Amino acid sequence: MKASDIPGGPKKGEILCRLLDIEDGRAKEFVYGQGDEIRDIFIQRRGDRIYAYENTCPHAFIPLNMKAGDFTEKTGQYLICQNHGALFDIKTGLCLAGPCNGQSLTAIDVDVKDGNIIAI
Ligand code: FES
Repeated sequence: MKASDIPGGPKKGEILCRLLDIEDGRAKEFVYGQGDEIRDIFIQRRGDRIYAYENTCPHAFIPLNMKAGDFTEKTGQYLICQNHGALFDIKTGLCLAGPCNGQSLTAIDVDVKDGNIIAI
């Protein structure tokens, strides 16, 4: 899903933040919409790469994290749902272990241009 397709979300080309605003190995959340239409996304940084997903676990449809910016397990290799420990491939969002094994996070398409993370 394109970030600009999120109801109440950013417009195409809108800057969400700078890449350097996200500490390497951490993530930043963005919440759009209101009421039942609220959409929570997170952008995980790994060096110069970023990976963006909707912050909803496919197991119980609740947020993955319990602390701001904290979406990976100890090694930083995998995204983790802190509710029941599901592990996800950072690059694809595919659940590799846990109660939603084989299901995927919803990827959000964003881009990095001139050091800015922008909605596409
Ligand atoms: S809610 Fe994510 S593993 Fe259960």
